[in-house]
Amino acid sequence: MAHEMAHQWQGIIAEYRDRLPAHVSERIVTLGEGGTPLVEAPALSARTGAQVFVKVEGMNPTGSFKDRGMTTAISAAAGRGAQAVVCASTGNTSASAAAYAVRAGMTCAVLVPDGKIAMGKLSQAIAHGARLLQVDGNFDDCLVAARKLAEAYPVELVNSVNPDRIEGQKTGAFEIVDALGDAPDIHALPVGNAGNITAYWKGFREYAGQGAAGHAGEGLPAVATRTPQMWGFQAAGAAPIVAGHPITEPETVATAIRIGNPASWALAEAARDESGGVIEAVSDEQILAAHRVLSSEVGVFVEPASAAGVAGILARAERGLVPADARIVVTVTGHGLKDPQWALRTLDGTEVQPTRVTADVVSIADALGLD
Ligand code: F0G
Repeated sequence: MAHEMAHQWQGIIAEYRDRLPAHVSERIVTLGEGGTPLVEAPALSARTGAQVFVKVEGMNPTGSFKDRGMTTAISAAAGRGAQAVVCASTGNTSASAAAYAVRAGMTCAVLVPDGKIAMGKLSQAIAHGARLLQVDGNFDDCLVAARKLAEAYPVELVNSVNPDRIEGQKTGAFEIVDALGDAPDIHALPVGNAGNITAYWKGFREYAGQGAAGHAGEGLPAVATRTPQMWGFQAAGAAPIVAGHPITEPETVATAIRIGNPASWALAEAARDESGGVIEAVSDEQILAAHRVLSSEVGVFVEPASAAGVAGILARAERGLVPADARIVVTVTGHGLKDPQWALRTLDGTEVQPTRVTADVVSIADALGLD
């Protein structure tokens, strides 16, 4: 029996085709990415005096925002007839590349820092059949190696230095404007390799009719009347942009953003400066506290790196730096199930043990404190 899909989100290439370069539409490889919820967060509004929303990117097909850029990068590679792709990754890019490579019938190689990627992400890359190599080094070493490999061998690089990745990821900004009717006052997000802050800034600018000459979508009507301030947050142990120099041994519980020499460093600074925004550092304690607020008060479970943007707005609110009633969107970048161990530990490090009971209603009621 033939079924018609009455109404289903088609993935970001089909949804935003007019505003993306034509070459990504020649052979679309999609898992239905994008169309993620923008959720109002009263608990964060109460704490900041602003009106706060979270853009829940963990709802993408592989559980992170990477899918937006991977559909465009892998589609473009497929259109050129590529057989194999490679990426360096702290985990999410590898999970996404592996899944989209399956759909494109390509081989996928991923280079990850040994022992420093969350189990959920590792299992995704393996489940999708990627050739996973654990490199004796950090993410920055992996990226240098992946770039050299792509220069010397017949494999395409799908890290965010690939411009097709940025094109896809800019659609997150489009969706925020589409949902709110205009750009927010402030857009906050974590910064690692700095591709996403670059992509969002590009998207906000293009939607406000301010894109660079020759961008896809030029000549289409502006959708937004303005652009937001971009507020980026790095983990304190991995904050090269804040420090003003590369960090040779980055360290943070937020392994996704454990990066000491971001590839899009200059573009992140441009996004900050052109938008009148900031790039600041948040401590691991602030990240884990924000992670807890998101799960226990907002109802959104994220991985630690994804909480950096929330940690950042809470820290700025404490210093009186969040304008009253500002409309703020915080992009929370990846799903909590990627790296669930942080839910099972209290902030002082003790393990959370579930209470054991017998399958008897009286002891269950007793354990729950019901009279
Ligand atoms: N949040 C999550 C969950 C991430 O996985 C990343 C980056 C970021 C934020 C930072 O985004 O690099 O564009 O500034 N993860 C990359 C990876 C490095 O390999 O998965 P960025």
